[in-house]
Amino acid sequence: MLMDKYNRVINYIRISVTDKCNLRCKYCVNENFPHIPHPEILRYEEIIRFVKLCAELGVTKVRLTGGEPLIKQDIEFLLKEINQIEGINDMSLTTNGVFLGEKIHRLKEAGLKRVNISLDSLKPERFAYITGVDAYDRVLESISLAKDLGLNPVKINTVMIKGFNDDEILDFARFAKVWDVQVRFIEFMPFGESTLWNSSRIIPSGEVEELIKKAYQIKPSRNSHKGPAKMFEFEGSLGQVGFISPMSTHICSECNRIRLTSTGMIKPCLFSDTEYDVKRLLRENAPDDVLKRFISDCVVAKPERKYEIGLIKKCQKSLISIGG
Ligand code: 5AD
Ligand code: SF4
Repeated sequence: MLMDKYNRVINYIRISVTDKCNLRCKYCVNENFPHIPHPEILRYEEIIRFVKLCAELGVTKVRLTGGEPLIKQDIEFLLKEINQIEGINDMSLTTNGVFLGEKIHRLKEAGLKRVNISLDSLKPERFAYITGVDAYDRVLESISLAKDLGLNPVKINTVMIKGFNDDEILDFARFAKVWDVQVRFIEFMPFGESTLWNSSRIIPSGEVEELIKKAYQIKPSRNSHKGPAKMFEFEGSLGQVGFISPMSTHICSECNRIRLTSTGMIKPCLFSDTEYDVKRLLRENAPDDVLKRFISDCVVAKPERKYEIGLIKKCQKSLISIGG
């Protein structure tokens, strides 16, 4: 079992398979970020070996992220291989949804059970403004297909940004209710040093929750304790709304995960720049026990908490390079 110094059991790995994305969300993409040459990116065999070793250490849950994981060639292969690893019983994917519709049957065949789809506006023009691409209809189509194919619960990630989509809170709540999907409102995290996308853009989840409670009858969901989102359900709908509050509350004590970046660095904490190079060991073909010891040591090195409420101190990279 992987346990850190603070008795947190780590059973979940989030793997970024690419730092590239077909969208250019203004708050995420940093144009100055250096291009990473392809050989630096972990190969599928390397990821598969890493997951196998993690599974032997007690990891049961894997999420593939990016960048955008669906721009990788034959991502179905990776899904299928991970799905077959003994001990892994939950595999999911975070995507912007643009290519999901065209790949969804193959992804399901490869063993995908659930998806998280990012959607920050329900207005097509706004979607195009924030992502730089006019693909709103394709994302909606993907959401609809994911529901039809039973990839439930379909989760929608909505980053709340002051002055951008704070007038759409009730629209998103209605969307959750009518479409029977989970809309998870995520507090904006001001990574990096952008002056435009800084902490003045944060809307505390409490405010979003209050607004929704005035318009809808919602009650806490039964399995609300699973994961960092505080979930609520509507009367007479399978839809839910949830709140992920990295900025206004400490979620660190619940943390059960580590990350693997696309360049093969283990990142024990999202809010810390400290990374550990597991790619080097993978490429040196280090024996299993050496790799397992390395992974365990990374978990032990997980900081208790890495930031003060409302302030991320040091993390310079955006989520596109860390893995969302
Ligand atoms: N703050 C909060 N959420 C973010 N995401 C990307 N950048 C940020 C940020 N700075 C979200 C994406 C996606 C998820 C993986 O992370 O919109 O839904
Ligand atoms: Fe791509 Fe997601 Fe970043 Fe948007 S937020 S640019 S979809 S990685």
